[in-house]
Amino acid sequence: SRSLRLAVVPGDGIGQEVVAEGLKVLAAALPADVKVETTEYDLGARLYHRTGETLPGAVLEELKTQDAILLGAIGDPSVPSGVLERGLLLKLRFAFDHHINLRPGKLLPGVQSPLAGDPKIDFVVVREGTEGPYVGNGGTLRTGTEHEVATEVSLNTAFGIERVVRDAYKRAAARPRKKLTLVHKNNVLVHAGHLWSRIFAEVGREFPEVSTDYLHVDAATIFFVTQPERFDVIVTDNLFGDILTDLAAAVTGGIGLAASGNINPTGAFPSMFEPVHGSAPDIAGQGKADPTATVLSVAMLLEHLGFAEEAAKVEAAVAADLLARSGTRSTSEVGDAIAARVSG
Ligand code: IPM
Ligand code: MN
Repeated sequence: SRSLRLAVVPGDGIGQEVVAEGLKVLAAALPADVKVETTEYDLGARLYHRTGETLPGAVLEELKTQDAILLGAIGDPSVPSGVLERGLLLKLRFAFDHHINLRPGKLLPGVQSPLAGDPKIDFVVVREGTEGPYVGNGGTLRTGTEHEVATEVSLNTAFGIERVVRDAYKRAAARPRKKLTLVHKNNVLVHAGHLWSRIFAEVGREFPEVSTDYLHVDAATIFFVTQPERFDVIVTDNLFGDILTDLAAAVTGGIGLAASGNINPTGAFPSMFEPVHGSAPDIAGQGKADPTATVLSVAMLLEHLGFAEEAAKVEAAVAADLLARSGTRSTSEVGDAIAARVSG
């Protein structure tokens, strides 16, 4: 029998509720001979208020030994903005070198898009996960004066760009349409932008079967709304990818359906799967959150760990559930319904 060591970080707000449903579906999907050993870590606002810590070193060390991490949501209004985001979520992404932040944008049958004309949307954003403006390279000067200065420097390394670009080419090559779009802003951010463009062209020579194009990020937002069918695989920097994938969620049925994987393809550290949405403190604890994004993140987790068939089963169950949706259901009712389809 096989065993799987899974770290679970429910986190803040609706994180608890959606993760419970994700685990339900995971249990229903896994073959009977696979034993899941889950360890829950109470990280987030509660721990922070109790101890002042966001990610204790001992926890980080323990997490390293897990096969994967399932994360709910991080962030709470009682904690200053950035403390948990940087000190916990981004710290995990950086510590485990999650350089591939994979975010599918797919409009499933039966899901209402706010876009007119029932567009066919099926793309995946490969967001760089460990560089760009997220590195925390910045500072303030002359605080408290009229001449206060704040900088936020975007870090881009050839190594970091090349590995995410190559990963995106591979993904594009494996899809039927074999199309890859680089999104940046190389007309303004000329230093980073030109490095991205150059490496994109260089790596592209290894993938002659992949057709490529380039869009400035502002233009990309137009096409996400007016012509989303033009996209297949998109590769972009950390911040552009953050913004674009919220827009992607909005045009494919909303943030309640958007899944993501923070992936370290080398396997040196566990990859981490989480819904794109945040902790939604306004609806926390009310059973109102849609757990589907977490369930689809579980499907990505299964796929990553080599359970492709089981992942497909979860996706099919979600697709069937979406088609059958009517009326309001609670968080656990949605989880139960999907789990039942997976088992049945
Ligand atoms: C996301 C979130 C995070 C990000 C925040 C909470 C740090 O918005 O996962 O998209 O910016 O990456
Ligand atoms: Mn985001």
